[in-house]
Amino acid sequence: MKDSVKAVILAAGKGTRMKSSLPKVLHKILGKTIIERVVRAVLKLKNTTEIIVITGYKSEEVQNSLKNYPVTAILQEPQLGTGHAVAQAKDNLAGFDGTVLITCGDTPLLTSETLAEFVKFHKGSGSCLTVMSAIFDDPTNYGRIIRNLQGNIEKIVEEKDANSTEKAVKEINAGVYCLDWKHVASAFNELTNNNQQGEYYLTDVVDWVVRKELKASIYTLKNNYEIFGINSQKHLAEAIKILNTLTIEKLMDEGVTFISPENTLISPETVIGKDSIVYPGCVIEGENIIGENCIIGPFAHLRDGVDIASNVRIGNFVEVKKSTIKENTNVAHLSYVGDSVLGKNVNIGAGTITANYNAITKEKSITTIKDDAKIGSNCVLVAPITIEKGANVAAGSVITKDVPEYSLAIARGKQQIVEKWVEKKLKAILNNGGSNSGIGIE
Ligand code: UD1
Ligand code: MG
Repeated sequence: MKDSVKAVILAAGKGTRMKSSLPKVLHKILGKTIIERVVRAVLKLKNTTEIIVITGYKSEEVQNSLKNYPVTAILQEPQLGTGHAVAQAKDNLAGFDGTVLITCGDTPLLTSETLAEFVKFHKGSGSCLTVMSAIFDDPTNYGRIIRNLQGNIEKIVEEKDANSTEKAVKEINAGVYCLDWKHVASAFNELTNNNQQGEYYLTDVVDWVVRKELKASIYTLKNNYEIFGINSQKHLAEAIKILNTLTIEKLMDEGVTFISPENTLISPETVIGKDSIVYPGCVIEGENIIGENCIIGPFAHLRDGVDIASNVRIGNFVEVKKSTIKENTNVAHLSYVGDSVLGKNVNIGAGTITANYNAITKEKSITTIKDDAKIGSNCVLVAPITIEKGANVAAGSVITKDVPEYSLAIARGKQQIVEKWVEKKLKAILNNGGSNSGIGIE
């Protein structure tokens, strides 16, 4: 079908400059790996019939990390360049009469909106090839876009192959392309590695298209940050900062208050209702929903799969994971809530833990706390466990059995008083000439 798109994501490179044993594309940016972010952006495109990921370095790890996504992984071994990488997908693309969108696995900030606009532009232009460009004040290390006198693309020259005039060009190749596969497929049989790096360059396909007098276009990116590529730990931190700032700005536009945005980390997959306040030091990672009028933090950690209704307070040093919390409930300080369902008007005292993990069986179990239940401070609720509606749990209890409705559960050592114990001890020390040696504390 002419309208359909197949995407090829290039992710076989090692990422040497990360100085990490983890493949570059498996480093995380606000709860999702770099490659996941690229795949998710491509997945949102309409008419995409296949997403092909080219893997190489630690391919098994990379492929495993994507097992929940509908992608075809293809191994490139050895890695002989970006052109060689795309050529590995030739069998999957054979006979395909549509657009092949090529993008890199290390540019996680490229949005699905931009990709959609790029594909639309390509289709509208009737070109055989469209390349995405950007204008950079400092174009160092990027391939440069060389245009002819009419302003049309002539070729792309890599930094290492460029002469001084070409190096002065500030328009760079973003590394994202649309190809009309039917017309361009055969270019991949003709690529050579006759260049400084001895690699089969994808960029040479531009040269091929121009030589064949087929139409080639350039789409210039509007937001340069979108093609920010990750090559080092510094880049990773920078990308996290950019995505975090964009996420918080969007939430602020929707009526969420951030007391100190620069001291808050939040995944773009998290949704927050208006009039909620996020205090400094919060880390909110993954896919979470927070209702309206909630108070989060300071120093709260929400770790994916958290669904919080309105008027909920998640306070100081509280960690919540994979849990549902209904209206007007408080988990105000120093608690851990994991794999739990908390009803309305529940109060969790300071320092309470849902013990959801059995370290021997490695199983996780559910804690259910129904409406109006009150849990005292410093309790351990050993899951699986249910605290029924309106029940109370006394402070310091270790709860291992379900607590019935409107009942009180106390599970702690009984307090004993040893009268005048301190006085007796002090007297004994005096009688011993001021020394307390040999006088043990019972
Ligand atoms: C490439 C472009 C350059 C562009 C830049 C944008 C070429 C020849 N050059 O250069 O014009 O400005 O991207 O970022 O294409 N990869 C493979 N297999 C390989 C080699 C690379 O899958 O054999 C993957 C890498 O994992 C990476 C992407 O392709 O995701 C780009 O490769 P990289 O080596 O970073 O190319 P650049 O030198 O940056
Ligand atoms: Mg690169």
